[in-house]
Amino acid sequence: MKELFDLTDKVAIVTGASRGLGKSMAIGLAQAGANIVVTDVLDVNDTVKEIEKLGRECIGIKVDVTQKKDVDAMVQQTVDKFGKIDILVNNAGILRMSPAEEMKEEDWDKVIAVNLKGEFLCAQAVGKQMIKQKSGRIINIASVAGQFGFPQAAAYDCSKGGVILLTKALAAEWAKYNIRVNAIAPGVFATAMTEDMLKSKEFMEMVKKNVPMGRVGQPEELVGVVVFLASEASSYVTGHVLVVDGGWTAGL
Ligand SMILES: NC(=O)c1ccc[n+]([C@@H]2O[C@H](COP(=O)([O-])OP(=O)(O)OC[C@H]3O[C@@H](n4cnc5c(N)ncnc54)[C@H](O)[C@@H]3O)[C@@H](O)[C@H]2O)c1
Repeated sequence: MKELFDLTDKVAIVTGASRGLGKSMAIGLAQAGANIVVTDVLDVNDTVKEIEKLGRECIGIKVDVTQKKDVDAMVQQTVDKFGKIDILVNNAGILRMSPAEEMKEEDWDKVIAVNLKGEFLCAQAVGKQMIKQKSGRIINIASVAGQFGFPQAAAYDCSKGGVILLTKALAAEWAKYNIRVNAIAPGVFATAMTEDMLKSKEFMEMVKKNVPMGRVGQPEELVGVVVFLASEASSYVTGHVLVVDGGWTAGL
């Protein structure tokens, strides 16, 4: 059974892995045996150090996922160092909240650029390498906000809805190359992205009322999910959106 989830000698790139869900998933993939390429616009040294402590090889690279030249360099450096890419976790993302009627054009553009175009650019560049290898697993981080209209986040909702369709489009196109493409749709997790929301009494009351499990998720609770999708345990799963939300959307 353990072998099904084993990632020994696999090579994984995780974007946006300086902190939050990306950091937790990068460490989780390393715990399952993978060597990791940690990327972010922010400093990634902490994540790199934690992964090295686990005895895995790890490199950190500054990458802005909206910049094709950064993304191409990320792929080149990974292949130069490890000779292959088995897993991509497309995690980098941002949230800008405001009433739709007041949303600034620059916020709309930025959210779509990071969350949707960024995931496409990384999948495209890594996908080219995976097509050569005739093997790979791509895990796109979407959100439950891609499945229903989360208020005051029109650009974010659209970007994540786009990520879900990107997942399905790539899964259908690349299955013939033995590349599986799936998405994780988290509900509310405690990270820097949600810090302010979680301080709001009204928001926490909404969580208690609407999330059947009555609480937010912790970043470590995505580890089992990402390892499942990255490993042989999910060998016949592609184009799937795995919702991890304490039951929130089940009750909508
Ligand atoms: N926290 C939640 O409740 C929640 C829920 C659903 C989905 N998500 C998604 O999970 C992912 C991780 O979010 P998080 O909660 O850990 O947030 P976070 O803000 O803690 O982490 C996001 C990371 O992405 C990085 N990043 C931002 N723009 C980037 C860019 N252009 N290029 C490279 N890296 C960039 C940030 O520097 C940061 O390290 C995001 O895609 C987010 O939309 C989060």
